[in-house]
Amino acid sequence: MDKIGNNKELRSFFHEFFGEDETKRILLFWDGLEKRHTIRVNTLKISRDEVVKRLTKKGFKLKSLDFYEDAFLVKEAPYEIGKTLEHYLGYFYVQSTSSMLPPLVLKPQPHEKVLDLAAAPGSKTTQMAQMMNNTGFILANDVDYDRIKALSNNVDRLGALNVMITMTEGHRIAFMYPETFDRVLIDAPCSALGTMYKSDEIRKWWSYEKIKRLRRVQKGLILAGFRALKKGGEMVYSTCTFVPEENEKVVDFLLKREKNADLLDIEFEWYEGFQNGLVEYRDDRFDDRLRKTLRVMPSEIFHEGFYIARIKKV
Ligand SMILES: C[S@@+](CC[C@H](N)C(=O)[O-])C[C@H]1O[C@@H](n2cnc3c(N)ncnc32)[C@H](O)[C@@H]1O
Repeated sequence: MDKIGNNKELRSFFHEFFGEDETKRILLFWDGLEKRHTIRVNTLKISRDEVVKRLTKKGFKLKSLDFYEDAFLVKEAPYEIGKTLEHYLGYFYVQSTSSMLPPLVLKPQPHEKVLDLAAAPGSKTTQMAQMMNNTGFILANDVDYDRIKALSNNVDRLGALNVMITMTEGHRIAFMYPETFDRVLIDAPCSALGTMYKSDEIRKWWSYEKIKRLRRVQKGLILAGFRALKKGGEMVYSTCTFVPEENEKVVDFLLKREKNADLLDIEFEWYEGFQNGLVEYRDDRFDDRLRKTLRVMPSEIFHEGFYIARIKKV
């Protein structure tokens, strides 16, 4: 059975959205991916060379990836890389390459105030702490207690000292911290189709009804994040799904609702599988600026599907 299984709605989404050939290509590509890991070296604690040296000594083969100097593909592993002492010591974080993109697009700077509105388990929070060299301040929020425990462990393990964790419904943050942050990341809860290769769960619950419910949360979060952003500040909205109702349609909602919201070009080298955002889908016609957003289709380097919009408060 392929990753879509017997879920008819999901199959029809894939076939309508991608067509036969692309659906086949993605499913086949994902079949070969189950055991592929990538890591991000945590330069807050150690240098890249030292991590490579230590892991190579233990029999791991790492390949550096040119899109981000701290990213490495684990080409060979004598055992699970997450069970090494180096992992426990927080010298690296196992993270998909696509998941490293939103912070790289947001570019948090040292000494800034940053909000990570849906932060758990902290892949991107800890990456941003590293990009900010542990200076400034990151408010890392999530609503799920169990996931917050993982976030807290990861923040500790990686030695991210500029992170403060809160647990609240994301939309409340707008009232608590209006116009406060230089940058905001909204890595929204989503239907996660871009990560289906590593989960058999998604096909069990995926439905248009569920998408509708997710979109309500996504709209609440994007508004809250925008309201917590300072004038002149930048925000990234990202998901790990392909579904336009969770991506372009949510960003389009923000542009229509908040007249001082604008979209910026994504300043990142163009890789295989990168596509512009859509300006229409089914009966929807979106703002033309949605073209500036980025769709990441599964490819050799970025094996998870992602969506990224770079937003400015003017
Ligand atoms: C895609 S995950 C975030 C992954 C995280 N950014 C990372 O890189 O590790 C989405 C998160 O949104 C959280 N979430 C869902 N609804 C929320 C809400 N109303 N307010 C805040 N967080 C919410 C979920 O608990 C989940 O941890």
